[in-house]
Amino acid sequence: MVQWFSAPVEKIKGTVNVPGDKSISHRALILSGLTLGNSLIKGLSTAEDVIKTKNSMEAFGVSFTTNLNNDLEVFGCGVGGLREPCDFLDLGNSGTSTRLIMGMSTTQPMTLHLSGDQSLRKRSMQALIHHLTNLGAQITAKSNYFLPLTITGTNFTLPSTHFIHPPSAQIKSALLLAALNIEGETTIIESQRTRDHTEIMLQNFGVPLHIETSETGQKIKLNGRCDLQKCTLSIPGDFSSAAFLIVAALLLPGSEITIEKVGINPTRIGLLSLLKKMGGKIILEHSQTISGEDQATIHVKSSKLKAITVPDSYVPITIDEYPILSIAAVYAEGTSIFHGLHALRNKESDRLTTLAHRLSQCGIKATITHDSLTIHGQSKRPYGGEIIDTSFDHRIAMSFLIFGMMTESGITLNEIDSIKTSFPNFIDTMNELGAEISCIT
Ligand code: S3P
Repeated sequence: MVQWFSAPVEKIKGTVNVPGDKSISHRALILSGLTLGNSLIKGLSTAEDVIKTKNSMEAFGVSFTTNLNNDLEVFGCGVGGLREPCDFLDLGNSGTSTRLIMGMSTTQPMTLHLSGDQSLRKRSMQALIHHLTNLGAQITAKSNYFLPLTITGTNFTLPSTHFIHPPSAQIKSALLLAALNIEGETTIIESQRTRDHTEIMLQNFGVPLHIETSETGQKIKLNGRCDLQKCTLSIPGDFSSAAFLIVAALLLPGSEITIEKVGINPTRIGLLSLLKKMGGKIILEHSQTISGEDQATIHVKSSKLKAITVPDSYVPITIDEYPILSIAAVYAEGTSIFHGLHALRNKESDRLTTLAHRLSQCGIKATITHDSLTIHGQSKRPYGGEIIDTSFDHRIAMSFLIFGMMTESGITLNEIDSIKTSFPNFIDTMNELGAEISCIT
């Protein structure tokens, strides 16, 4: 069996780019596919999850070509113009592809069969199924609301109001996509504000939204059955990918890195403010807004970190960054506590349990109380030497490769294939900066 080893290193240095934002890439493929006419996407992520969305949109009749600049030209079918796929859709590891496509299909008169890999087939679709059945979709899933599932949509849906709690950007986005083919005004209320890429992009495609934001969340109103206008989108680098590099540079003394053109949408960068509060030296430069999304160049210098207590209000804006934040906490002075992590249990693995187990395996004191994770910072480098089972979770895999760099004797992983789902060139990027991650057989 092939294993991967991350050796201890002194520091990392250099300037790099990260792949296009995965969340924005999914939305760009779907919304351009729902547009009549040609759209252009620049900087699309090459992650496997995104390829699953692209393949699915092709099955609905959308066509894509890559031009000489390596940008993607999309020939969409229009909101009501999708055709029923003739085979089941394989969504691989991608929960986002699954949920967004289910939302989109709910108001299309067609039947779809969806499945995915072993990990995706263990993720509950219960909350989404509840909302979409209220819109008239007929859904049959395996027990526990798992994939494979069959969904039959309808275009006779009446407009309605949806309250989303606990917060989920995927559910909000699925409902917004469904609303595009509903005559009249659909209202979506979020109990807490989540990433707003769908709202931003809908407006890029000329769909008017009425949004009321308050301290407790937001209310979005969308009038369906309007045409999407073709547009050109530029996708910034993925902050959730940059997060691994940022933490590695903070933790390894003498490190200094620059990451160019990274998305810094305020609904995504909880980790940035937490790391700064912990004492991280992180500077943003060249901020600009492109296709409605904020982006900047991020400079990071190694820093001595202090422990932090993170309230549950941070969950929606930090959701995918708890694995790498946990690695930062291992090297921070004091005890860190992260609250309100229930949503982590239904990610690519049960991330709350996986994190606590794998950290404990490495001799770090990490405990779960209800939905909170407590991590005791180490005063010296942990010894390392363990073989970590990633549970085929890309963010667990990348976090423990970073962890290995700070140990005395390195860390081995049972696989790294999962990393292709979000950051296909992660190993090359890290090694370019000075990491020593290699394959052992
Ligand atoms: C995503 C939203 C988040 C995040 C996921 C991607 C999205 O999930 O964890 O990786 O693209 O909308 P939630 O549905 O829990 O917000």
